[in-house]
Amino acid sequence: MSAASTAHTPSPAAREFLARRHRLFIDGRWVAAADGGEIVVHDPATEGEIARVACATESDVDQAVAAARRALTGEWSRLNSHQRSRLIWRLADELEANLELATELEVLDNGMPRMVAQYSIARFGCDFLRYYAGWCTKILGETIPVAPQDVPNGESLTYTRREPIGVVGAIIPWNSPLVMATLKLAPALAAGCTVVLKPAELTPLTALLLGDLVRKVGIPDGVVNIVPGHGHVAGAALAAHDGVDKIAFTGSTEVGRKILLAAAGNLKRVTLELGGKSPMVVFPDADLERVIPGATRGAFFLQGQNCMASTRLFVHDDVFDRVVEGVSAMAQAFRLGPGMAPDSELGPLISADQRERVLGYVEAGRQSGAELVCGGEAPPGKGYFMRPTVFGHTNMGMKIAREEIFGPVLCVQSFSDSDLKAVADEANSTIYGLSASVWTRDISTAHRMVNLIDSGQVSINCHAAVDPAIPFGGNRQSGWGREFGREGLDPYLKTKATTVKF
Ligand code: NAI
Ligand code: MG
Repeated sequence: MSAASTAHTPSPAAREFLARRHRLFIDGRWVAAADGGEIVVHDPATEGEIARVACATESDVDQAVAAARRALTGEWSRLNSHQRSRLIWRLADELEANLELATELEVLDNGMPRMVAQYSIARFGCDFLRYYAGWCTKILGETIPVAPQDVPNGESLTYTRREPIGVVGAIIPWNSPLVMATLKLAPALAAGCTVVLKPAELTPLTALLLGDLVRKVGIPDGVVNIVPGHGHVAGAALAAHDGVDKIAFTGSTEVGRKILLAAAGNLKRVTLELGGKSPMVVFPDADLERVIPGATRGAFFLQGQNCMASTRLFVHDDVFDRVVEGVSAMAQAFRLGPGMAPDSELGPLISADQRERVLGYVEAGRQSGAELVCGGEAPPGKGYFMRPTVFGHTNMGMKIAREEIFGPVLCVQSFSDSDLKAVADEANSTIYGLSASVWTRDISTAHRMVNLIDSGQVSINCHAAVDPAIPFGGNRQSGWGREFGREGLDPYLKTKATTVKF
């Protein structure tokens, strides 16, 4: 592994943005936090401060929710579905026009490699907005051919309409900040809802850029409100707020549970995208030329800080050594460095705390007798970097194999069984069920495994195929509900049934 070197000087546009006095975006205006509080934003590659951002507390959340509630019955509600669609589409165009700036801010705030930021903002940020812009004109009710209360046929009409669920509180994590923001906003706006978005306290910058763009394209005031703040303060206030009709949350399973409890007060609707410990199962007939890069990228994408990371690799005995060798060689060859350096392939972790947490797991792995094949340490110098780590010969009795680490740690486990059920039982033996994959050339084995694996997604010969049109979400403690696709729109809608007696 070689360290990427080039020090990055922010572009003039990024410098101008970073130097601003960043306030909260409420009711179409930039306002200071009521108590004047601030979040200090750091670049995880240098550990240096790059900006200060207003930090919302409960009273700011109240203001934002009130604005969203007013906007729900204002000008926004009178736009027809074509007009709503055009506004969302324009937001995508503006984001694309600002792709360079958005990418740079995302890299400085989160640490991810530049290519990853740019690709994900274009492919998922802009494309999600456009995908859901298309749904505005396709939200349909039904007519139901019954004759309630025994009226004669032809003497009544029953139909349903799909209405916006109301004010949505969106609470998002730091691992892919702008994409997370757009994939909450897109279906909510398509459905006609209004939104209070709380970005993660560790990465508020690109959400604020989005505020600029929302204003620029003419989305009515109050439809989108953006309130950076701490989870236990602003996030908790939003989750408990009586003026919020639905919470869309992505983050840890632990906080997901807190959101549910907080939501009980007014029984608001909740969707949860939570953790994962995704299994990748490699049969001996699989094409190893594809398995090795697939497993390596699947595990270390975003430095392993993503919910669908393939962190448990189950490999058949016959090919175990070759796969472990290939994956660890590729992991060690990744160039670690600041995201803005053109040759960086892996960036830093998000924070010192996160790296401590990951190193704690590495220690637990060592102590439980797992074989450390590569990595396991932080390189010297500034930045929250961590070398990609592969543990061989793990088993499901080990904490590192069971718990979500959210860092660059891959556990490889062997199997010899030809009993597919036994293999699937191992794959299913965590509290999670988000994104699994099966690698084989045998279509029967592949589809038998699809039947046996309990997961919101099971991919064959690829891992975690993500597209705005493909439903995504977790079974068991990986979450509630699905995002993306048509199903991803449903949680933002409620059905009204109407019967007319002639
Ligand atoms: P987190 O779950 O605490 O944070 C996610 C979001 O929830 C942030 O916006 C945060 O401000 C908010 N939040 C925190 N406490 C809240 C509360 N009581 N009420 C309402 N909102 C609240 O994640 P954190 O602390 O940043 O990371 C800790 C661990 O969580 C990671 O190491 C990882 O294992 C897991 N995680 C998983 C994610 C996933 O997508 N599966 C995303 C982020 C974290
Ligand atoms: Mg937390």
